[in-house]
Amino acid sequence: MRCLPAALSLVSLLGLPSASPLGAQTPQAPKAYHGLRLPNRFFADNRAALLAKAKAMGPGTLVVAKSMPAQPSSGDGERPYRQDSDFYYLTGVEEEQAVALLDADKGTYTLLVQARDPRRETYTGARLGLAGAKAKGADEAVEYPAAEKTLSEALQKAKRVVLIDNFDEAFRIKVLDAVYPRGALGWKADYEKSLVDGRPIVSEMRVIKQPVEVEMIQRAVDASIEGHLAAMRGSAFFTNEGQVAAALEGTVRALGARFLSYETIAGAGSNGCVLHYPSSDQPIAPGSLILMDASGEIGFYTSDITRTWPAGGTFTKEQRALYDVVLKAQEAGIQELRPGRPHGASMRAAARVISDGLVELGLISGDKEEAFKRGDWNKFLPHGVSHYLGLDVHDAGSYGPVDTFHKHAGTRPLAAGMVLTMEPGIYIPKGMEGVEARWQGIGIRIEDVILVTGDGPRNLSARLPRRAEDLEAIVRGGAKLRR
Ligand code: GLY
Ligand code: MN
Ligand code: MN
Repeated sequence: MRCLPAALSLVSLLGLPSASPLGAQTPQAPKAYHGLRLPNRFFADNRAALLAKAKAMGPGTLVVAKSMPAQPSSGDGERPYRQDSDFYYLTGVEEEQAVALLDADKGTYTLLVQARDPRRETYTGARLGLAGAKAKGADEAVEYPAAEKTLSEALQKAKRVVLIDNFDEAFRIKVLDAVYPRGALGWKADYEKSLVDGRPIVSEMRVIKQPVEVEMIQRAVDASIEGHLAAMRGSAFFTNEGQVAAALEGTVRALGARFLSYETIAGAGSNGCVLHYPSSDQPIAPGSLILMDASGEIGFYTSDITRTWPAGGTFTKEQRALYDVVLKAQEAGIQELRPGRPHGASMRAAARVISDGLVELGLISGDKEEAFKRGDWNKFLPHGVSHYLGLDVHDAGSYGPVDTFHKHAGTRPLAAGMVLTMEPGIYIPKGMEGVEARWQGIGIRIEDVILVTGDGPRNLSARLPRRAEDLEAIVRGGAKLRR
């Protein structure tokens, strides 16, 4: 096994200037975004927009939003805490146990927070407390245990409760019990209150990205591009998928990503055909393609980028033929991400190119039109090719009624300000029936992050090369760098 010279891996991980041809792409160290967050104003505006909707429901409306509960891991461990995206969107609060109460009659924002606790804070750092809650924009702040009373009184008083709670089942039951008391059955029932699911309301608010959100997504994308470049540059020397994943993960962390946008998928050869390949720890066979679907998160905003490149820096004839079909399909899909076009049109366009390409290569038989209608391509491309992206990688929002064409596509017309991925692929795992051996063990996906604008699609990750020759040059450049 070859070893990575330390100085050279730093060059690739940190994107430092180098004398290689790649130096031209990274003339200076990439920007880092440690601790970057959107300003209070953003969250206040979101609350105001939600309050206006709540007020329109009638007097006595109370919005109740709950933070993500902490997740145990093993023993007395906990998984890294990451705030629920709806709650974050409305509050900017990153702590657990927090509850936001928005009184639509008064237009006030009360934040319930965990109590300061010097002993616990020795372990986990400072909590917001009352002062911190006010600094986050709360008109009133209450700590537990007093907060329990504040919550139950607010629920008692309300005529209508709009609940935004994605994950805390116990909390939901508590609210339900307050709104619809148990035992109030049949003719005795006297339900004076009503409960409204606030989640679809906030989901819809999140569909059109505000300019500051696009900026944050761009930063997550930028950091992730550096991660992909680091992984590609190291590839000529990597012998295990874990090294590929580590190059991206180390780089995005170095650039300010506390969280990954999702678990890194780094699959070589046939592993690239496992859509959400979970382990990324297998040896890389010489000559195989590496499919990496990976990104970091900056200030709670995600990215979602996939590149597929030859481990040794040269595509085989079969790999290249399939790669070029996927690239063409991606371009066709991107061109459909325009205001007014139904979401499903991009799926249709990408799938058509994949289908035609597979017919041309002899992997699907018969006439192109008939083959497309038969849907044989679905065996090679078994997933949807576009989803919203934002605070969540599969971001909130409806795609409209499902397109009869594909269950992952909808009929909703796209609009400026939406951010969507475009990610077609072709997957031919080892042992796939009815396919010659020379095509097997090839998994390809190309994925970029696209902003829908009035001027057409804007590819936020366009800086990361996609053309086969460019990817080869990067991998080979990486090899040269290390000599
Ligand atoms: N990385 C998950 C996806 O591409 O949807
Ligand atoms: Mn995706
Ligand atoms: Mn992806």
